[in-house]
Amino acid sequence: MSKIIVIIGAPGAGKGTQSRLLSEEYGYPQISTGDILREMARADTPLGRKVKETMAAGLLVSDEILGEVIRARTSQPDCNNGYILDGYPRTLDQASLLEELASQQGKQIRFARIVVPEEALFKRLTGRRECSKCREIYNIYFRPPKVDGVCDLDGAPLTQRSDDHPEPVSRRLEEYKRSTAPLIDYYSKSGRLIEINGEQPVDVVFEKLLAAADGPNN
Ligand code: AP5
Repeated sequence: MSKIIVIIGAPGAGKGTQSRLLSEEYGYPQISTGDILREMARADTPLGRKVKETMAAGLLVSDEILGEVIRARTSQPDCNNGYILDGYPRTLDQASLLEELASQQGKQIRFARIVVPEEALFKRLTGRRECSKCREIYNIYFRPPKVDGVCDLDGAPLTQRSDDHPEPVSRRLEEYKRSTAPLIDYYSKSGRLIEINGEQPVDVVFEKLLAAADGPNN
């Protein structure tokens, strides 16, 4: 049966970094709700402006909008064999929609949570830089590019996300505790969540995620 691999974690835990690696390994698309919403926020429409404001405030976009986004994206043909969810679900309502979709699509869900203490998250987020072309992720403290401000892979300039400045980062971490902690409790109690220490090197976290994704049904 094809799979949905769900990566859960606080802002900066490494969901994007690991989802990219999993996508290469399995050939499944990486579905980042943050990337989809950032694209929507670029449109000068009432919906685009609403999404942009909500993200800039470090709050979660409504479950209703996310429902439409996730239904539309996961019904694309490239998802037929499986897909990786990076940043979805983040609320109990989103989790129940995911269960519904998995059963309609005939897919099994594997959940893994990357756990990183809050003190480390702040530095990861404020130090993050992203390639403006290929989206490779760097960190000025932990994974600097060879040449300052330039992508190692394609030479394109690196950019900083507007919500990676100190104030929005603090708000995102608060919102995570408020809205996503109940979801983690729910998955933990149901015994379906595999927890991985995200303070290990990227390749070690990746090995553990592969084991979680390939492990027995949960
Ligand atoms: P989104 O884009 O998903 O942001 P996020 O959850 O805040 O997570 P990040 O992308 O910031 O971090 P990450 O865990 O992917 O870490 P990364 O791999 O980049 O969402 C943005 C906004 O969109 C939300 O605030 C919300 O408004 C909205 N949104 C999105 N989904 C939504 C939903 N489902 N419902 C409602 N609203 C939604 O790594 C971070 C840094 O750490 C990098 O510099 C990296 O190099 C470094 N790093 C990674 N792994 C390691 C390691 N093992 N060791 C050392 N450094 C590491």
